[in-house]
Amino acid sequence: MRLLACLLILATGAAQAEPDLRLRALAANCAGCHGTEGRAPRYSLVPGLAGMPAAHFIVQMKAFKSGARQGTVMPQLAKGFSEAQILALANYFAAHKGSAP
Ligand code: HEC
Repeated sequence: MRLLACLLILATGAAQAEPDLRLRALAANCAGCHGTEGRAPRYSLVPGLAGMPAAHFIVQMKAFKSGARQGTVMPQLAKGFSEAQILALANYFAAHKGSAP
């Protein structure tokens, strides 16, 4: 019984530590260019997203989406994300520290 209680505590702890799978899948759309979890490779020309302040992230994504900021791929990409998804991604990347692996 005590073992079961222990396992339950471990299982719920792990579930809480694990970020929402859907959010991770959403963030994986960015990994090809911005690096895994937003950590861009050392000499990458594409900026890393890990640890980026959420406010900066949101302003840039909305500017790409509205056309206020020009770019190569981001203006097209940003249009595919809702405001709620942009907010969720902003918090996700802000919480991931460090840029280069
Ligand atoms: C095909 C490659 C590619 C993918 C995929 C991609 N990006 Fe980008 N991203 C870029 C490039 C290149 C830039 C520089 C601006 C430009 O040229 O569009 C950029 C710039 C940015 C910036 C601005 C950074 C700054 O400090 O000015 C943000 C924020 C950003 N991307 C977020 C995202 C998010 C979120 C995703 C996933 C939903 C994503 N990107 C997917 C290539 C990509």
